[in-house]
Amino acid sequence: MTELELIIDLHKNSERQGPGSENDTLKALEFLNLPTDQDLKIADIGCGSGGQTITLAENLNGQITAVDLFQEFLNELNEKSQKLGLTEKIVTLKKSMDDLPFNKGEFDLIWSEGAIYNMGFENGLKKWKDFLKVGGYLAVSEITWITQSRPKEIEKFWKSEYPEIDVASNKIKQLENNGYSLVGYFYLSQDSWIYNYYKPMEERFDPFLKRHGNAEIARKVVNDNKTEIELYKKYKDYYSYGFYIARKSE
Ligand SMILES: C[S@@+](CC[C@H](N)C(=O)[O-])C[C@H]1O[C@@H](n2cnc3c(N)ncnc32)[C@H](O)[C@@H]1O
Repeated sequence: MTELELIIDLHKNSERQGPGSENDTLKALEFLNLPTDQDLKIADIGCGSGGQTITLAENLNGQITAVDLFQEFLNELNEKSQKLGLTEKIVTLKKSMDDLPFNKGEFDLIWSEGAIYNMGFENGLKKWKDFLKVGGYLAVSEITWITQSRPKEIEKFWKSEYPEIDVASNKIKQLENNGYSLVGYFYLSQDSWIYNYYKPMEERFDPFLKRHGNAEIARKVVNDNKTEIELYKKYKDYYSYGFYIARKSE
């Protein structure tokens, strides 16, 4: 197995593939002012196994196109939506987020939790804007510094993992410079990282290593995640996922 296949295997069969929670999704939804008397067209990009997709389907009218690059995650979402009787509302699509087959002005809402970084925040918000109606909403979560300065160790780690990491005021400026108006911002609680993402992942480490015969490449995948978790525990007061909710204004 390649390292990428192993990463997918580690993240399979879990509620979420990134920090977040049902409460965070609901909180972000509260900022939207969408028509309630018509069916909405919604895209959930980088949906993973669809923790947030289910919450969106349960709380909005209309149809959600849930996009991910990996079929394994989409299969899990399809199973969940079947169990919950939500197949009419959720359609899955295996596609890369930078090569979407959508039409201009097609969507009322584009949602993306912890995934826009795969194409870069600014690049993503520019490209996806075309698919939104004027007055439609973009709701994305993105790793964000929550203080103006921070220790060198964590600055160096995240700058090398994701050079676009920044403070919220700069991310908001990017939204405004690209034809969006901010309607809401908050950042995720530490519980959304620890209890909903890192702890369940830690519980999967041993079975994962066993499944892969404790191979060196599998140990590397685990160790990389352990490093990220240790750094989070040490520096959790300096960064989080910021949730940005914005309206396409022009
Ligand atoms: C950190 S996970 C977040 C998943 C989910 N939204 C959640 O919060 O649980 C990022 C997701 O982006 C997907 N992804 C990575 N690169 C992608 C791409 N180029 N196009 C579409 N999805 C991609 C991954 O498969 C993964 O499901």
